[in-house]
Amino acid sequence: MSDTYSENMPRNETEAKRNIGYLIHPAISATLPATARIADIATGTGVFLQTVKTAYPQATLHGSDISTALFPPAASLPPNLQLSRLDVLEPVPPSLVGTYDLVHVRLIVAGLHPSSWSSVVQNLSRLLRPGGAMQWEECNFGHALHLRGGETSTVSAARQLGTLFREGVGEKLRHGWDSLEQDMVDAGLVHVGHDIVSSDRIPETRKAVTKNGMIALVAWARNRSGMSPEELQPIVEAADRDIESGCYIRYDTHVFWGFKP
Ligand SMILES: C[S@@+](CC[C@H](N)C(=O)[O-])C[C@H]1O[C@@H](n2cnc3c(N)ncnc32)[C@H](O)[C@@H]1O
Repeated sequence: MSDTYSENMPRNETEAKRNIGYLIHPAISATLPATARIADIATGTGVFLQTVKTAYPQATLHGSDISTALFPPAASLPPNLQLSRLDVLEPVPPSLVGTYDLVHVRLIVAGLHPSSWSSVVQNLSRLLRPGGAMQWEECNFGHALHLRGGETSTVSAARQLGTLFREGVGEKLRHGWDSLEQDMVDAGLVHVGHDIVSSDRIPETRKAVTKNGMIALVAWARNRSGMSPEELQPIVEAADRDIESGCYIRYDTHVFWGFKP
């Protein structure tokens, strides 16, 4: 699936890594060999793997996505990073079963029906070699709220865009990923864990996180809210002023992981 909203789901790499505090959970990185085979599913632009390659220059990095639209040109990729097409709703290729040390998924929620998650986790866990790990990050953006940061901050336009989004798509984004922990257990993974980090954990990043979230809200409103560009533009400008006045967004990022026995 490729739509403007999902392409703009909050995922500024630097801010995300700083807020969560790690790229790969320490329980996993402690066991990951330098020559690890790492698959990033629903990879989008491949940005996760581009970041991982700095810490794991000897790793084999395979990114896949249902859509190749966001892939950078193959010639621009390092030799150890390859991108290909893979739909998580289809059985994984038999040649890849049992071959990865880490299977990573992040922010696929907009692309999956809430009823599909359990079978998708089962399907993707087949990619893991014994001892390999799955790490999956989703955020509860369907619950995101715009808060007042300063005494005189304004918030109403940012909240209006947030409300439009929640009423339009929030329900879908609220479900499916919330059973990931149980889905990993049901898929036979062990040492399953769940970390939760608030988007405002580091106060200095609040503005950047809020601006990044606003890109996603505005992209959705432009494409799906039914509002005309003329109706939307003044609200978008007022929301920018809200952010400048200290209004900031809050949501949680959930990190789930488990190991193949
Ligand atoms: C918000 S982007 C996240 C991209 C990347 N994981 C990141 O964090 O930068 C969601 C991605 O999920 C992909 N996607 C949606 N449904 C999918 C499916 N059934 N199989 C594989 N990828 C899918 C979309 O094409 C899109 O690239």
